[in-house]
Amino acid sequence: MCGITAYCGNDLALPFLLQGLNKLEYRGYDSAGVTLLEDDGLVTVKCRGRLKNLEEKLSDYTLKGHIGIGHTRWATHGVPSNLNSHPHSNDDETISLVHNGIIENYRELKEELLEKGYHFQSETDSEVVVLLLDYYYDGDLFAATKKVLSRIEGSYALCIVSTFEPDKIIVARKDSPLVVGKVSNAYVAASDIPALLEYTKDVYFLNDYEMAVLEKDNIHFYSHDGKPIEKDMNTIPYDIEAAKKDGYEHFMLKEIYEQPRVINETLRGRIVNDKIILDELKDIDFSQFNKVYYVACGTAYHASLCGSQVLERVTKLPVIATVASEFRYNDPIVDEHTLAIFVSQSGETADTLAALRLAKAKGATTIAIANVLGSTISRDAHYVLYTCAGPEIAVASTKAYTTQLVLLILLAYYVAQKLNIEVNLQLIHELDTIPDYVNQLLADHDIYASWAKMLENLHDTYFIGRSLDYASVLEGALKLKEVSYVHADAYVAGELKHGPIALIEPGSVVIAVATQPHIAAKTISNIQETIARGARVILLTTEGQEVKNVENTYYLPKVSPTLQSILVAIPLQLLAYYTACIKGCDVDKPRNLAKSVTVE
Ligand code: F6R
Repeated sequence: MCGITAYCGNDLALPFLLQGLNKLEYRGYDSAGVTLLEDDGLVTVKCRGRLKNLEEKLSDYTLKGHIGIGHTRWATHGVPSNLNSHPHSNDDETISLVHNGIIENYRELKEELLEKGYHFQSETDSEVVVLLLDYYYDGDLFAATKKVLSRIEGSYALCIVSTFEPDKIIVARKDSPLVVGKVSNAYVAASDIPALLEYTKDVYFLNDYEMAVLEKDNIHFYSHDGKPIEKDMNTIPYDIEAAKKDGYEHFMLKEIYEQPRVINETLRGRIVNDKIILDELKDIDFSQFNKVYYVACGTAYHASLCGSQVLERVTKLPVIATVASEFRYNDPIVDEHTLAIFVSQSGETADTLAALRLAKAKGATTIAIANVLGSTISRDAHYVLYTCAGPEIAVASTKAYTTQLVLLILLAYYVAQKLNIEVNLQLIHELDTIPDYVNQLLADHDIYASWAKMLENLHDTYFIGRSLDYASVLEGALKLKEVSYVHADAYVAGELKHGPIALIEPGSVVIAVATQPHIAAKTISNIQETIARGARVILLTTEGQEVKNVENTYYLPKVSPTLQSILVAIPLQLLAYYTACIKGCDVDKPRNLAKSVTVE
């Protein structure tokens, strides 16, 4: 996720811009840049890669400007490259800006600007904003900004500098964070508090549709219609380390709480008038396939298990979901009539990459579902769809998993649409409500924390579920074991009496998921068999299910059964998190694990 810094004051701007970008590094980025307002005009220096590459490039310049903007980019439109890096400027370099967010209608705006004779240097959506500013500027930068904001759709945090009005920076936000700070001798802005904390704890938070004009000794705030407004200053009560985590104790917790937003981002622009829009795949003729493989590792494999079942149900195409380390060595039956889908947060997992290359060599059409733009898997696949989870820092995957589920469900319905199969429109409508339900589930954190106490002193736990719930319990068990080191096994509930029930004894804890109406009652009766042998049970189900004598029953909001897989992930993630906390585990960096498994 991109980072923004801006400085308007009496001291040199560059040191502030760079230290701020440095403090935002934890968010992840693939390129960086700055624009300084120098005596002879705007000077922009930017490049692909780490901040140290930018610093090396900057050593060729002597930049003395007192006004400037900076950016670290996490690519969304256009690969990481020098040209796609921010800041972006107009042709004569009189206006320059940095942007976080996504301009959803950039294609139309780009067409419009091309017709007016503008040309584009980058593949980014952000460049349309600066060219529109150029087009609308008529002696008043604020008026031009207002006009541009009325034309763009999507999300933005923007900082704009111009030689036309060289005493100010204009900033604006919608659905992308932006904080303004007061430091001695200057006003500053950033996308996140850590960038400011070394300089000040006195900040103003911009709300959606608000703008501000920063001058050296003054700041003015404006509402969406350009009317001046007053804003209260807030004092940040915590230090830099805590701020990187937005005040959360761990990245894992922060990322769990980011899910409503990133699910929204992943859905954004992909459902229009009951239709799923995945333009990235528009050239695929899905009628050519007689089989679909889903290939991934770990959490991404669990998302694939769910996604594959959904696709099979809606399209009736035969599907196989398999872990990449098996696929690559088992001589899978793949040919040019196979569609192979590779799911990976990092896009760098060695086994998944090798499996992808094998499938391509055998003639399959390949789609990558990745989170990191420009990652190897996303570049190697024929087609790519991105989840919009932003950088995932905690080793245990949480927000990547739920955004993968969302995208895989969209994909299944997209394929059905392309095959002219009638789909369940209710589910498509309900997708939009998922972020609100996730918020509702997050609010019950105390309940999940109380369950964690049941696990604190246990060596083993058992997760059971059927159908889509089986994928959910596999993921719940993985989360628990990797962060809390409580051994957790997940079983298809129907398999209990074929062996695992021998393990159940008084005091055992069984975590059951029963959200699929056609099969929930069966899982609930399996629970009774474990209760009869002394187990304590945590049951996650939906309202309307008949449940008797289960000590801890939690009712999930009722949505289409397919979407329950997304909702049920929340209590299970928080259960794992709280158990790890009670046990004093290193939540964000569990022992023996790496975030990106680039070796076999
Ligand atoms: C578990 C976890 C891992 C990854 C797996 C695949 O929380 O994070 O199981 O899901 O290593 O990683 P990616 O998705 O990067 O291919």
